[in-house]
Amino acid sequence: DWATVHGYPMVYAFTTNWERVEQFQCRPEDVWIITYPKSGTTWVSEIMDLIKNDGSVEKQEQIPIVQRVPMMESAAPGTLPSGTENLEKMPSPRFVKSHLPIALLPKNFWESDCKIIYVARNAKDVAVSYYNFDRMNKFHPEPGTFAEYLEKFMSGNVAYGSWYEHVTSWWEKKKDHPILYLFYEDIKEDPKREIRKIMEFLGKKLDEEALDRIVQLTSFETMKDNSLVNYRLLPTTLMDHSISPFMRKGIAGDWKNYFTVAQNEKFDADYEKKMSGTTLKFRTEI
Ligand code: A3P
Repeated sequence: DWATVHGYPMVYAFTTNWERVEQFQCRPEDVWIITYPKSGTTWVSEIMDLIKNDGSVEKQEQIPIVQRVPMMESAAPGTLPSGTENLEKMPSPRFVKSHLPIALLPKNFWESDCKIIYVARNAKDVAVSYYNFDRMNKFHPEPGTFAEYLEKFMSGNVAYGSWYEHVTSWWEKKKDHPILYLFYEDIKEDPKREIRKIMEFLGKKLDEEALDRIVQLTSFETMKDNSLVNYRLLPTTLMDHSISPFMRKGIAGDWKNYFTVAQNEKFDADYEKKMSGTTLKFRTEI
C-alpha cells in the first residue's frame, strides 16, 4: 500500500503517476487549503466554499473538495475522476486541497504566488483521528493497535510523513509566502472569529446574517449529516464508516480517551525534542 516519494511515505493511490503532480498548472488566483491529514481540512474547505457562495448552499461547489486534490490517479478509477482532471476544467478562482509537505510541491506552485490557507491541529488529537481514519480507510495501511500506531506517528512513518516537520515548516514558510495559518482549536473555540479571518483573507465581504448562516452550516452536527461533505457517498470499499465514521467526534481533547499516562509522558518528552526549535505553540484542549 505504500509508495515513497522523495523520502516521504505516501499512499499508493496518490503516487502512481507522480509526474502529474509535478506538472500540475497552478494559477495565481488559486487558493490552496493545505493541511497535515486529519487537521480540519474538510471543515475549513466547507467554510471557504460557503464564503465564496455568499453563505448559500444552493450555489454550493459542484465538485466536492475530496475531488479537488491534484493527485495523479483517481483513488477509485471508474468511480471517481482524477482530481487533476477536475481542477483543469474548473474556472478561477479554484479552491484546491493538498496534504503535501513543502518539499513535494511543484516548482510552478511557488512561482504562481497563489494564496494558502494552512490549518494545523494539535499532535495528540491528530494522532487519534488519524488512527481511526486508517482503520476505516481502505487505501491506507492498517494502523495496528493504538500503541503500535502511536510509535509510527511519532517516527513519521505514516502517509504524508512527519506531523512535526509538516506543521513547523509551513509555519516558517509564512515569512515569505501569503499564508493564513489557522488552528483547529481556535475554530472550535470561536468559529465566527475564525470564519471572519478567512473571509478577509479571501477578500470577501459578507454581512452578519451570512456569517451566522456559515457558522451554523459548518457546525459538526450539520456537517456530519451533509452527504456532500461527510464522505458517505464514497463506496464502502474505500471508506467503511461502520468501523469509524469520517465525521467522528469533532472535538479538542479526545486524546485523553486514548493515551495512557505512560504513552503521554513518552509523547511529551519526544515532542519537546522535536519542537524545541520552533515558536509554534498548540493547545491540546480548549
Ligand atoms: P475527529 O476524527 O477527531 O472527529 P480532515 O478533514 O482534515 O480529514 O479532518 C477530519 C477531522 O476533522 C475529524 O476529526 C472530523 O470529525 C473533524 N471535523 C470535520 N468537520 C468538522 C466540524 N464541522 N467541526 C469540528 N470538527 C470537524
